[in-house]
Amino acid sequence: MKNTEKSLAGQRIGVFGRGGSGKSTCVVLLAKTLARSGYPVCVVDADSTNEGLARALGADKTPESLLDWFGGTVFSGGPVTCPVDDPVPMAGAHVATEQLPAKYCGQTPEGIRVFLAGKIGPLGPGAGCDGPMTKIARDFAFEPEGEAPVTLLDFKAGIEDVSRGVITSLDWVIVVIDPSYAGVRAAATLKRLLEQMHSGFLPATRHLTSPDVVELTQRTYREARTRGALYVLNKIPDPDTEQFLWQRLLEAEIHVAATIPDDPALRQAWLEGIPLHSVTAEAEAAKMARALEEKSVVVQNRRRGGADVPTKTP
Ligand SMILES: Nc1ncnc2c1ncn2[C@@H]1O[C@H](COP(=O)(O)OP(=O)(O)OP(=O)(O)O)[C@@H](O)[C@H]1O
Ligand SMILES: [Mg+2]
Repeated sequence: MKNTEKSLAGQRIGVFGRGGSGKSTCVVLLAKTLARSGYPVCVVDADSTNEGLARALGADKTPESLLDWFGGTVFSGGPVTCPVDDPVPMAGAHVATEQLPAKYCGQTPEGIRVFLAGKIGPLGPGAGCDGPMTKIARDFAFEPEGEAPVTLLDFKAGIEDVSRGVITSLDWVIVVIDPSYAGVRAAATLKRLLEQMHSGFLPATRHLTSPDVVELTQRTYREARTRGALYVLNKIPDPDTEQFLWQRLLEAEIHVAATIPDDPALRQAWLEGIPLHSVTAEAEAAKMARALEEKSVVVQNRRRGGADVPTKTP
């Protein structure tokens, strides 16, 4: 048994990458792997546009949006604000099982709980921006009885949500890289954003008028829980492409933790809107889970002033 066991309990993992790179696919595969390893798992669909994540996970239903539960966006008279204009944490964002009616939570056969931050479409024209959904993704935490769950968050394409500060509440960032120059660049940009944050680079606050809110925003970045990133290749058609990407990414000092091949079974499942299943891809997701567990142990040991290497017990 390794001492990495359950080292991800209570952690929040956000998945980023460019459009169509495979973020939602990674969320589904990783959620299933973690659930199989015995973690309680929550998935938050934080993509304000795309639909179908709950189906890909095999959930009993697509849940109602947390945006409705929290009372709607500020643009339509509700309390949920955009974190750029209003970085102040959402009141009541930590929710216990008995507080949340069942319609806001999907369940998969493996016991994964599925939540949906909110979709912009149903809000109609002039709905404003989807910042309130980002704020829900940043602040919402489901707190069931017993062991703290691992929470996986599926974000929309690009890095807008990162720039809105959502990473400050994530322990780990997974970057999904599709076989393209743009995919490699997106990974390098995310790496730089994380490095900037860790080196004390402060966010833009010129638009904020209250000194208290400026201080709060800066403190949020200084105290960000973000530990680091895991880089994953997806849709890889052959070993030559994999080799090429490894090389390009190494030039940016990015090491790849897993490679999900281009897999017709995954494409077909997304086409039909049915649960994803692929033995090869699931094996890569298991590698991702192990890598995250080992990284978590390293961080936990460092915080305790101990060794960097995850120790193994027989
Ligand atoms: N490993 C794979 N092999 C083959 N096809 C894949 C693979 N991963 C994803 N796809 C295809 O790519 C499409 C996009 O995948 P996915 O929805 O996971 O990406 P995404 O990054 O979440 O996209 P978006 O930016 O739109 O949210 C899927 O509909 C599927 O057809
Ligand atoms: Mg997606």
